Amino acid sequence: MSEEIIGINNVYKAFDTKEVHNGVNLSIERGENITVLGGSGSGKSVLLKEITGLLKPDSGDVVVDGDNIIHMNETELVNVRKKIGMLFQGAALFDSLTVEENIAYPLRENANFPEDEIKEIVAKNLEMIGLPDIQDKMPSDLSGGMKKRVGLARAMAMNPKILLYDEPTTGLDPPNITRINHLIRDMQAQFGITGVIITHDVQSAFEISDRIAFLYHGKIVFTGTVEEAKNTDVEILSDFINAKMEGGDE
Ligand SMILES: Nc1ncnc2c1ncn2[C@@H]1O[C@H](COP(=O)(O)OP(=O)(O)OP(=O)(O)O)[C@@H](O)[C@H]1O
Ligand SMILES: [Mg+2]
Repeated sequence: MSEEIIGINNVYKAFDTKEVHNGVNLSIERGENITVLGGSGSGKSVLLKEITGLLKPDSGDVVVDGDNIIHMNETELVNVRKKIGMLFQGAALFDSLTVEENIAYPLRENANFPEDEIKEIVAKNLEMIGLPDIQDKMPSDLSGGMKKRVGLARAMAMNPKILLYDEPTTGLDPPNITRINHLIRDMQAQFGITGVIITHDVQSAFEISDRIAFLYHGKIVFTGTVEEAKNTDVEILSDFINAKMEGGDE
């Protein structure tokens, strides 16, 4: 039985006169990995920000784990955000903080975790991403792939139910892309995390997703399994996939 964990219902969002979301509907099931594909500027990152309440739609509803977050104030949103880990594009680590301080940041910022528990979570999460014993390194000591993995360890610090990944493999070489993709699948398999992924990397999307959604001209014009996406007769999606697979990646 599938159960909705995120519902985006008839969402409209414009910046000045630029309409970005024009009636977006998307129901995300608990425990699935879903990738949102769409061209540059189609509103994918805005969609993730609407899920975290960082941006408010002009109209429509965003339901996260049973709660409509549209009219929530910042205090209420903090509680919703505890359920959501975010892996930002480029990992977005704090350059002046050690790896340990980066991963512990959400724990020290949002919750009164005792220090020994924080140390434990940091060590456990570093183990999980396959980088034990790098607590004291600075982000500048790490490769791009390692930074993304530390970003994931930080996103997991608060033990979220949902992970939002904004272009998790962009800029990485093939071995690191494979490693990140395996980690995304691991988070789902081991912890039952619901993953919402944005990527321009269609091959990765096929490997890590249960379902694909396609955002086009402000609407979700396709949702379906990977197989259904590969065989779709929605021409704009098949054109998009073919262009990307032929190396039209930006
Ligand atoms: N805070 C903002 N203020 C004004 N315009 C914005 C804001 N955030 C996004 N936009 C505009 O909304 C549109 C969608 O942006 P968004 O970042 O969601 O695109 P995207 O699909 O993530 O693109 P990309 O694949 O290039 O990352 C763009 O035209 C962008 O300029
Ligand atoms: Mg974006």
